[in-house]
Amino acid sequence: MPFYSEKVMDHFSNPRNVGEIPDADGIGEVGNPVCGDMMTFYVKIKDNVLEDVKFKTFGCGAAIAVSSMVAEMAKGKTIEEAMKITNAMVAVELGGLPPNKMHCSNLGADALHKAIENYQQKSK
Ligand code: FES
Repeated sequence: MPFYSEKVMDHFSNPRNVGEIPDADGIGEVGNPVCGDMMTFYVKIKDNVLEDVKFKTFGCGAAIAVSSMVAEMAKGKTIEEAMKITNAMVAVELGGLPPNKMHCSNLGADALHKAIENYQQKSK
């Protein structure tokens, strides 16, 4: 796969933070209208900090690499910091994605933000 950066290949081959958090404080699920792939994020939040972030992605390699990177970027951040992570930032962190795979990066930060919003709604 010559079009993928080393970082994408690394996160695809060894995704970090895969799985579910059974007692998650927030869950966010998004689907990609372009290809129908699905991504779910789980967050554990304590004292305004994302203590744990996990994901399940039914999608292409780029989507898995994006999820893994988002989870890594978000872990240990405050809610405010995590909400500032954008899909574009994730693509940059991964060393770029091929143009026809940019749509895959659109799921990651969205799913994370949804999970945080889910937590915020529940704790209201
Ligand atoms: Fe569906 Fe990449 S092809 S997320």
